[in-house]
Order: sequence, then structure tokens, then C-alpha cells
Amino acid sequence: MKKLVLFSIIAFGGLIFMNFSRIDSKSVNPKNDKYEVPENVQAIIDRSCFGCHNSDSKNEKGKKKLSWDLMKKGYKTYKVIAKLSEIEEVLQKNEMPPEKFLAKYPDKKLSDEEREIMIKWAQDMVKKMSE
Ligand code: HEC
Repeated sequence: MKKLVLFSIIAFGGLIFMNFSRIDSKSVNPKNDKYEVPENVQAIIDRSCFGCHNSDSKNEKGKKKLSWDLMKKGYKTYKVIAKLSEIEEVLQKNEMPPEKFLAKYPDKKLSDEEREIMIKWAQDMVKKMSE
């Protein structure tokens, strides 16, 4: 009987310990671990989106709508999924980057191929993160 009690305590303690270490290493939103950006997509973001859409951006509206740096860590999973759908939508409609901005910096415009790549990525990511 004593052995059983001892065993239970050890097993239970182990369980608690495991749980704690899991929370620790996986942060608060374990599903956000599924969020991945391949290099070719990251290159497009860096060139054409990130400047206005990050936590330190001077573009208050852009920052509020989307901060790329919060996608992996910061936004809750449901929010990341919502942002991804918005990203897909603005790209489908060719709304981003804003036209005014492109008039000044035409080299930041996405080519049709880049738009396709990014749309496909956003769609795939939504699927993966909703599983
Ligand atoms: C010159 C700054 C600028 C750049 C570059 C830019 N955006 Fe935006 N973005 C904005 C602003 C400003 C808004 C808010 C527009 C509004 O509220 O009408 C916005 C809004 C958005 C939204 C939210 C749309 C919605 O329905 O609310 C998404 C998603 C988005 N941008 C994605 C992107 C992506 C993807 C890129 C790169 C391909 C990009 N943006 C590049 C300034 C920028």
C-alpha cells in the first residue's frame, strides 16, 4: 500500500511537472507554432508590407490592422487566422500595398506571380491553423 501511495505521488508530481514544462516551452498559443513563413513569402512581406505593418510602425492605421511581428507570438490563434483571411482578401482585390504608396515606390508592387504565391500561402496557413 505504501508503495502504491508513493508511486502515485511520483506519477502525479511528474504529470504536473510535465504540464508546466509544456506550457513553458509552447507559450500561450500552442497552435501558433503551426504558423510558418517560407523564405519566398518572407521576402515579399519584408519588401512590400512590413514597413507599414509592424508594432513599431509610424503608420498608425496600418499597424493597428496588422502587425506581422505579432503573427507568430502575440496574436491569439483565432486572430492570426482572421488576419490571414484579410491578407488573402486584400491581395485578391489588389488593395495592398496602397496605390498612393505604389505611386511613390513602384518597385514595391507585387508581381502577379508574387501575389499568387502569397495568396496560396495564406490559404494553406488558414487550413493548417484551423485543424
Ligand atoms: C504604405 C503603407 C502600407 C503598406 C506598404 C501595406 N499596407 Fe496594408 N494597410 C495600410 C493601411 C494604412 C491600412 C488600413 C487601411 C484602412 O483602414 O482603410 C492597411 C490595411 C491592411 C489590411 C487590413 C484590411 C482590412 O480589411 O481591414 C491588411 C490585411 C493589409 N493591410 C495587408 C497588407 C499586405 C499583405 C501588404 C503587402 C503586400 C500591405 N498591407 C502593405 C498600409 C500599408
